Amino acid sequence: MTLEEKIGQMIQADISAITPEDLAKYPLGSILAGGNSGPYGDERGDAAKWSKLVHEFRKASAKAGAGIPILFGIDAVHGHSNLPGATLFPHNIGLGAAHDPALIQRIGEVTAIEVAASGIDWTFAPTLAVPQDLRWGRSYEGYAADPALVASYAKAMTVGLQGPLAPGKPIPADRVAATAKHYLADGGTDGGKDQGDALISERELVARHAQGYPPAINAGALTVMASFSSWNGAKNHGNRSLLTDVLKGRMGFEGLVVGDWNGHGQIPGCSVTDCPKTFTAGLDLAMAPNSWKGLFEATVREAKDGTLPMARIDDAVARILRVKAKLGLLGVNPVDRGNPSIVGADAHLAVAREAAAKSLVLLKNNGGVLPLRPGAKVLIAGPGADSMAMQAGGWTITWQGTDTTAADFPKGQTIGRAIVAAVKDAGGSAAISADGNFSEKPDVAVVVYGEQPYAEFQGDMPNLAFREHAGEKALLAKLKAQGVKVVSVFLSGRPLFAGPEINASDAFVAAWLPGSQGEGVADVLVARKDGKPARGFTGKLPFPWPADAVSPVKTPLFAAGYGLTYASKAVVGTVNEDPKVDLVASASEGVYFALGKVPSPWHLSLDPGIAAHAVDLGAQEDAQQFSWSETGAIGIDGPPVDLMRQLDEEFALKLDGRLDAAAGPIAVTMAGATLKISPPVGPLTVRIPLRCFLEAGASFKAVGTPLRIAGDKGLSLTLRGASIEGVGQTIACPAK
Ligand code: GLC
Repeated sequence: MTLEEKIGQMIQADISAITPEDLAKYPLGSILAGGNSGPYGDERGDAAKWSKLVHEFRKASAKAGAGIPILFGIDAVHGHSNLPGATLFPHNIGLGAAHDPALIQRIGEVTAIEVAASGIDWTFAPTLAVPQDLRWGRSYEGYAADPALVASYAKAMTVGLQGPLAPGKPIPADRVAATAKHYLADGGTDGGKDQGDALISERELVARHAQGYPPAINAGALTVMASFSSWNGAKNHGNRSLLTDVLKGRMGFEGLVVGDWNGHGQIPGCSVTDCPKTFTAGLDLAMAPNSWKGLFEATVREAKDGTLPMARIDDAVARILRVKAKLGLLGVNPVDRGNPSIVGADAHLAVAREAAAKSLVLLKNNGGVLPLRPGAKVLIAGPGADSMAMQAGGWTITWQGTDTTAADFPKGQTIGRAIVAAVKDAGGSAAISADGNFSEKPDVAVVVYGEQPYAEFQGDMPNLAFREHAGEKALLAKLKAQGVKVVSVFLSGRPLFAGPEINASDAFVAAWLPGSQGEGVADVLVARKDGKPARGFTGKLPFPWPADAVSPVKTPLFAAGYGLTYASKAVVGTVNEDPKVDLVASASEGVYFALGKVPSPWHLSLDPGIAAHAVDLGAQEDAQQFSWSETGAIGIDGPPVDLMRQLDEEFALKLDGRLDAAAGPIAVTMAGATLKISPPVGPLTVRIPLRCFLEAGASFKAVGTPLRIAGDKGLSLTLRGASIEGVGQTIACPAK
């Protein structure tokens, strides 16, 4: 192999930024599809389309350079979740509640079969995080707070995905490479900040965060992914002691270490296109989604000038080739993956239905309101009653799990529809009414609500308070006032402080993010004609449930391991309703205005001639009305924050509120660039992609003034929210 061919093996590009033809000049070793990437730009491409793309890349790689086929990786983190029609399992937190390693192995097998069915040979799973501060937006990707449970699952999922390794033999065509991630202590960062710093002792690092890696490695995990986060100030992507001395030396890992999404660029002294330090530290394959060309050229230069020793290059390439050999990609008769017809097979859906049922944890069931009796009149209400997006969560079709529709889940059913069917099968009547309105009074209302989908840092929170989305408290109170029994089915990526909601419910079920098979929830909640449900409650809390909104949880309302069954006679009394934290403060750099208030660390500035006062938009004083008596601007200022990742991920600035009176165009300035908008008078929801500000000259590396809104005399604007968020689709820029 030439030096260029060796370096090419050590670099991975995303399908949104490379074509098969590029491999002729840049013989890269691996391709990935990130959370928002779909085959030929189609985020809803089917298995056949994925398989076609993978084969095009593999054919091109076989003709490029030394003719070594690419590795193709994807995030199949709760089933093959990029793929419409795939079997979607509960996210890891719900699987942790099941306490069932054998089930985990079967989930791994089904996931591998459906990933391989689309021609792909590698999934970036399992996550072996042990989340400690549930403000972390990736808490739901962790199985549990108990390292022993994570360790048992690490082995089970690795064997499920890959099958048992046999010397000299490749893994089967319907198994794929696993990834133990994110190494190390991704779930241990200070404040639960995503990509933050784990300020912990070596003892804590080993005893709590490393326990999943030996079982995964001993089960044959072919890859490990480095974590964005740091340990005591040292970025994991550049930590030689952890990547080489511990992982490869003491743990004996012989596979490849892959970086996370341009994570190498966060090492001091590195950029996304130039980082020999990460390779010398022990990274074998850099995930350089859109930076691959620059990184290739710089690394070739550094190999030639000796900055990157040839021995390290040869070791990295050997590891990469070892994984490819284990996947059967090398040689004259390479293993060929791709059997689209098996995606979403009934047998697969049955495993997901069982997993959804086993993931549920019953926190309260006063008066035995559950299971729903045969013949009952049932109302299913709440924003989650008929929402695949809420029950599937992030990493579903799109990276953030937003902007999906029922059509994306042809094999699934929502919780509401599954309960309607089950109640009718048992001789009862049932209907879905999201707002809780009814003509005929029901015996019981099942109210499904909780968190909206999110992924990664987009889910970071300032505290553990459940932030209602659609007036849930008022809905529960209305039903109670009407004398209707209330069952809350709470969809969330983590335990949250929900004291008022628990008190307003006769029964309260922690349902986490149960995936596409809502029938699994109905199997437990609804009794059949014989008066018994198909399954009982068996789930136990994988994390403590907080009694207030303080995190890490100091006073659990329910301890880890708690979970009622139908045999339990426990009565839950009135619980604390005081969050004990400031509900507006924000730890995320992306929230500038929340419920009409400016959260820390931001400050509001008003030019002279602009008056502001609190108003009720959707709830009591949840917005501020600004009135211009002369030309000027309102501004949000604070500590400079790096928004390059958000720019990379197509985030947008979102303004939410109402335009009360117009006075010419409104000038919106972000990160130093100004765009003009002219919305109609009335309710206001504006989304402006960060790239539009970039095109107008913005700089997102250190943004200290994330927002200014300028207008002329006569303008009146009511603002409830201003934030940046992932939008999962391409939005046009405002007309110039
Ligand atoms: C993301 C995640 C990682 C994922 C990778 C590829 O940023 O941190 O878990 O595997 O990028 O999508």
